[in-house]
Amino acid sequence: MPLVTSTEMFKKAYEGGYAIGAFNVNNMEIIQGITEAAKEENAPLILQVSSGARKYANHTYLMKLIEAAIIETDLPICVHLDHGDTFELCKSCIDGGFTSVMIDGSHHSFEDNIKLTRQVVEYAHDHGVVVEGELGRLEGVEDDVKVSAEDASYTNPAQVQEFVQRTGVDSLAIAIGTSHGAYKFKPGTKPQLRFDILEEVERLLPGFPIVLHGASSVIPEFVEMINAHGGNMPDAIGVPEDMLRRAASMAVCKINIDSDLRLAMTGTIRKYFAENPSHFDPRQYLKPARAAIKEMVRHKLIDVLGCNGKA
Ligand code: G3H
Ligand code: 13P
Ligand code: ZN
Repeated sequence: MPLVTSTEMFKKAYEGGYAIGAFNVNNMEIIQGITEAAKEENAPLILQVSSGARKYANHTYLMKLIEAAIIETDLPICVHLDHGDTFELCKSCIDGGFTSVMIDGSHHSFEDNIKLTRQVVEYAHDHGVVVEGELGRLEGVEDDVKVSAEDASYTNPAQVQEFVQRTGVDSLAIAIGTSHGAYKFKPGTKPQLRFDILEEVERLLPGFPIVLHGASSVIPEFVEMINAHGGNMPDAIGVPEDMLRRAASMAVCKINIDSDLRLAMTGTIRKYFAENPSHFDPRQYLKPARAAIKEMVRHKLIDVLGCNGKA
């Protein structure tokens, strides 16, 4: 099966009241863990690559690893650029075989965001590639850029119809209170998302796929594993799973997960070294790390996203 765009996946997900998992990939073990779980659960997949991932692992290595995953799994897989910030970066990924790109113009003015997004859409659509835009700004850290709570802003539903119409985007990321990284809510407070904004966007854009960034649950088991083995992340808090299930049953068709992969990998490796301090063969500690990613992703596919059996 060749790489696919997310068009068909989103159509089915919207109609079926579930979401597709968009998992960030940076190396072979992460790709293997995710795709092995998806194969066993027969789930469609979006593998997303940030500009940092591309700098770390190299575009060609990542594409070839994903090609290998397609051969091994025969699943519908979409390769997506996560948080593209310039036309040139999006073009380079489109020219290099990605089937989907995000142009994140959320830090620009509304008019400049539209202009940049429209430029990417024109080039992408000419090449059979789909585009995700973003309106509203998430708090947190991406590619070493930290957006503070004061600079974050919820999506204004009054702008979404005009944005989608004038840009021609295929999906839209909105800000409803999630954030990137492992510290999403203040310790001691009850996590809350603005489902009223999501409902309003859904009403204004019926049938249109919405994307939720910053959607890791910051799984406590892995935070505890890190803290029990020399780490220091006591205040790490993520998005509760019931909120993700609710979003997936609504217009949210793509749920972005990166931090949970990092935590699963790091927690498992810390534990491994605590129990095996003299080991130094990378295969010995990467094997359980890959297995932890696989089981964590399986849990997401079945219990959170509801996309198992939908490939
Ligand atoms: O939203 C950001 C993703 O978690 C990617 O993070 O830019 O550090 O690769 P990164
Ligand atoms: P998390 O940091 O919650 O995993 O979010 C990832 C993300 O939104 C990637 O674009
Ligand atoms: Zn994101």
